[in-house]
Amino acid sequence: MPQRAQIVDPTAENLARIAEAIQNGDIAGMPTETVYGLAGDCRSPLAITRIFETKERPSFDPLIVHVGLGHRGLFELSRAELIDLAQIPNPVRDVANRLTRAFWPGPLTLILPKHSSIPDLVTSGLSTVALRMPSHPVAQALISASQRALAAPSANRFGRISPTSAQAVAEELGDRIDWILEGGECSVGVESTVISFENTGEIRMLRPGGISKEELEKAASVKVLDRQGSFYPAAEIAGTPKPEAPGLLASHYAPGKPLFLLPTQISEISDEKLRACLKAPLENLQSRSRGIGILLLSGQPRPIAERISGLVPCPVSVASLSPSGSIQEAAHHLFSELRKLDRDPTVGVILSEPCLSNSGLGYAIQDRLSRASAK
Ligand code: TXA
Ligand code: MG
Repeated sequence: MPQRAQIVDPTAENLARIAEAIQNGDIAGMPTETVYGLAGDCRSPLAITRIFETKERPSFDPLIVHVGLGHRGLFELSRAELIDLAQIPNPVRDVANRLTRAFWPGPLTLILPKHSSIPDLVTSGLSTVALRMPSHPVAQALISASQRALAAPSANRFGRISPTSAQAVAEELGDRIDWILEGGECSVGVESTVISFENTGEIRMLRPGGISKEELEKAASVKVLDRQGSFYPAAEIAGTPKPEAPGLLASHYAPGKPLFLLPTQISEISDEKLRACLKAPLENLQSRSRGIGILLLSGQPRPIAERISGLVPCPVSVASLSPSGSIQEAAHHLFSELRKLDRDPTVGVILSEPCLSNSGLGYAIQDRLSRASAK
């Protein structure tokens, strides 16, 4: 694939050049603290069309608008003509203001009634708009230099693994865009938490992410609603032409290679049961010269590699998201390690431990893993 994109440092000169391109309807790769985004002026139909085409994203999947540091409350968002304050009931105003004060800038996206000046293309025809204030200094520098709120979905081709480094953006979209701003590895590593509101002010979590359910409940003193067991039952998504958070289609964040999920951590599985768990992945190996890539949530890779090598007739590579068992570190490495296994020519299939924790960032990790493994 011919590379077109240049990865450039966020110098004042480069920021000015890319900001000018954005003012003219162009788009660019932009680092945020969650994942890299593909950014364009949220009021430019040209830029929005380019974003959808570049990502090959279906037009029914709306974008998140990224705002500057000056917009840390509903009044400011309304003054900037991003939301329609008149449509927002008082209990929702209260809760939303508490949340923006607690978590902005940061990995929380709020769904609110949109201002009429936001193009329907951005919101896929919905009357609401998704808003977030990123904390990454380079994202803020670009918003400030372009003097625009920036629509930015994750900078991957639709349905694929989100990029957490500039190099990963180049792998995904390097043949289709001109500029990628270098911002280092994303600190959080999974996307923002997306929430909407009931008229009572209760919060509905549409996508688990960088801010946990527990943190939201504590800051807002209201209940966070989710759907028991599974957030987004497949039937509900499949039966709705305009799902509320359509980015949450069953198969998402998928590596190119088949990904299988273990029922529990490898250390808790007997050899006999592990052999049974390895059967389906082995059957999916196209060639015996390729092997199995194992993704551990925690612990040391070496002993697991030795154990599994004794059970299978093919090469085994093992990666650990956090040898020390930190959930933050696991989230930080999730997409980059999946991407490495996906690229590794000796790996034919991936077998991952599940993340059985239903709280904190564990919820977001499990959500991404089960989506990645959906067939
Ligand atoms: O962390 C993030 O949120 C990253 C970085 C780049 O900021 N962005 C990101 O964007 O993950 P994207 O497009 O990959 O995911 C946006 C999600 C989708 O699931 C989309 O359906 C949902 O937000 N969304 C956007 N607007 C919505 C709306 N009006 N109502 C409900 N869901 C909405
Ligand atoms: Mg995405």
